Amino acid sequence: MSLYEGIRLISDKQTVVFDIGSAYTKYGYAGESVPRGIIKTEVKCPESGKIRKVFSYEDSQDLYQLLVEFIHLLFFRHVVVSPKDIKVIIVESILTPTEFRDTLAKVFFRHFEIGSLMLAPSHLVAVSTLGVSTALVLDVGYKEATLIPIYEGVPVLKAWQALPLAGHAVHECIKKELKTVLPNDGSDVEKTIEDIKVRTCFVTTIERSLKLQTDEPPIAPPSVKYPGVKTITVPGSVREKAFELLWERDNDNLSVPTMILDAIVKCPVDMRHPLAENILLIGGTTMAKGFLPRLKSELLTLLKSNLYSEKLKISTVKFHKAPSKANYTAWLGGAIFGIADLPLRCLTKENYLMSNRVPDWASLIDNQKSDSLINSM
Ligand SMILES: Nc1ncnc2c1ncn2[C@@H]1O[C@H](COP(=O)(O)OP(=O)(O)OP(=O)(O)O)[C@@H](O)[C@H]1O
Ligand SMILES: [Mg+2]
Repeated sequence: MSLYEGIRLISDKQTVVFDIGSAYTKYGYAGESVPRGIIKTEVKCPESGKIRKVFSYEDSQDLYQLLVEFIHLLFFRHVVVSPKDIKVIIVESILTPTEFRDTLAKVFFRHFEIGSLMLAPSHLVAVSTLGVSTALVLDVGYKEATLIPIYEGVPVLKAWQALPLAGHAVHECIKKELKTVLPNDGSDVEKTIEDIKVRTCFVTTIERSLKLQTDEPPIAPPSVKYPGVKTITVPGSVREKAFELLWERDNDNLSVPTMILDAIVKCPVDMRHPLAENILLIGGTTMAKGFLPRLKSELLTLLKSNLYSEKLKISTVKFHKAPSKANYTAWLGGAIFGIADLPLRCLTKENYLMSNRVPDWASLIDNQKSDSLINSM
């Protein structure tokens, strides 16, 4: 029992699981296989009536107000539970800024008076949906692509990677290309671009992508008409090129596929093959049509290139298929963790009010086992 944290029976109070992403928040109950809902991570400002994204805060005070509004909306309009004394699981990236994590805990404990909070690292919990303990987890969501390898249940933090190549970058690219044809009235434009991206754009093959850069590009796919107040014609070239920036290497030779290979290079030799053969893609942007086959061919091409052929002796890469859609795989991991009561990883209201700090699982200080807790189990 002392080697791991032990699993107790399901607690009698229902556990609520939130995955607060920079674009979308997934919410639901622990032990369920799909979230009850997915909503935008934004609130309507009570004073100005303007829509504000929770992640575009100015300072801690501003964030506190935004989170109070947003969590209130989640508890009372969507999840519909009284937050007092319940257990909450937050699925969050290990790379979340401390300011955000601390303010979130303050809102939950001081404003909503919840009973306990567990911060579940998204890359780690996503692996639990597969029933394996080793996987290289790449999350391509809205704000950035982040990668953390998990080996035998332990995040290999020294190999983490992050790049601002995700849904937002693709969104901006489409916006630039369609500037002249888009209507110019605020938030509706953003919604339209998002819809155009998901419904009409796709990831092209590596062969076509190479030809696109030559003087004789291949014939563009057909244009499509996007209906609305004003019908927008989305040219085939925009549909095909929207996701190209994920694969274009910048001045430092960095792109989504190089993140995977760089992370593998940073891991010890005996971990490399298992990681290359257990890649898990999470985050909504990986659901784009053609994303997986393109990533696979990019990786195989890079492995043969001068850049990696000396450093890595890997010839195959394999991907896992999670029992969920990629945009809520991390949430599902949190829902699985939620039914296992892990007392050492839960921050109770009493402990929080006494110490006024949130444990950081990436820090050694917070990873020392407490004898008193283990003995009491
Ligand atoms: N089928 C799809 N094809 C292409 N893009 C998609 C698809 N479904 C969702 N997306 C995109 O995925 C992004 C949202 O993904 P996700 O919900 O994982 O982000 P998030 O968790 O809010 O962000 P982050 O993890 O970066 O904080 C949006 O940009 C959305 O447009
Ligand atoms: Mg996310």
